[in-house]
Amino acid sequence: MASIVAENVSKSFRQGREFVHVLEDVSLSVDPGEVVALEGPSGSGKTTLLSILGCILTPSKGRVVIDGHEVLASDGSKLAEVRKRFIGFVFQQYNLFAALSALENVELALNIKGVRGPRARQAAQKALEDVGLGDRMGFLPRDLSGGQKQRVAIARALVGSPSVLLADEPTANVDSRAGQAILEIFRTLAKRDARALLIVTHDPQVRTVTDRVLCIRDGRLTSESGT
Ligand SMILES: Nc1ncnc2c1ncn2[C@@H]1O[C@H](COP(=O)(O)OP(=O)(O)OP(=O)(O)O)[C@@H](O)[C@H]1O
Ligand SMILES: [Mg+2]
Repeated sequence: MASIVAENVSKSFRQGREFVHVLEDVSLSVDPGEVVALEGPSGSGKTTLLSILGCILTPSKGRVVIDGHEVLASDGSKLAEVRKRFIGFVFQQYNLFAALSALENVELALNIKGVRGPRARQAAQKALEDVGLGDRMGFLPRDLSGGQKQRVAIARALVGSPSVLLADEPTANVDSRAGQAILEIFRTLAKRDARALLIVTHDPQVRTVTDRVLCIRDGRLTSESGT
């Protein structure tokens, strides 16, 4: 069973009296352990599509099924539930809490999911070790490099064992060496734990770790090329 399924997804936003059509009839699926890049020009709809797959936005038309759970536009609480249980997000800007250490940032993500105390702490430590930050757990974000901050964000996304990992331009703010390290961690952990990974990117380096590349242009998937 695919971890991510989108069938004929369209999305329009109302802008005054007009509708802006951002996604048109997008269908895709990503299997467990598969690493897929989503490429396309600025404004083509990448973040909108990722937000729909990540249960942050609902489609205007079409179906989204995450790990066998259909996400219906009409049901906001189901949407939040699926997001919490099955989805991990990594953003370009890391979005870490500045006043919390690396460990506390990761632990907080578990607390939000209802896991607390020593169990949360141990899982957070393990997740930071998985991304190679076992020796940086007590550091505040300001004392970490960009690449290290992004690795904390990856640990935070993975700590609840989501079946789907979605990343929006995860290497855009780091140099190419740190970017390559991030990409290899992503691939290793997606494969090890059979998580579906979809990476939105402009960075050609991403293709070094993907199984497949999807291209989007003006809200439509245009082509798929293997790597
Ligand atoms: N809430 C909204 N209301 C109206 N239009 C929107 C809304 N959100 C996005 N759009 C429009 O949808 C289009 C696609 O936006 P999106 O953020 O998905 O692009 P993107 O491919 O991620 O671009 P970038 O590479 O610059 O991040 C843009 O033209 C944008 O103006
Ligand atoms: Mg975007």
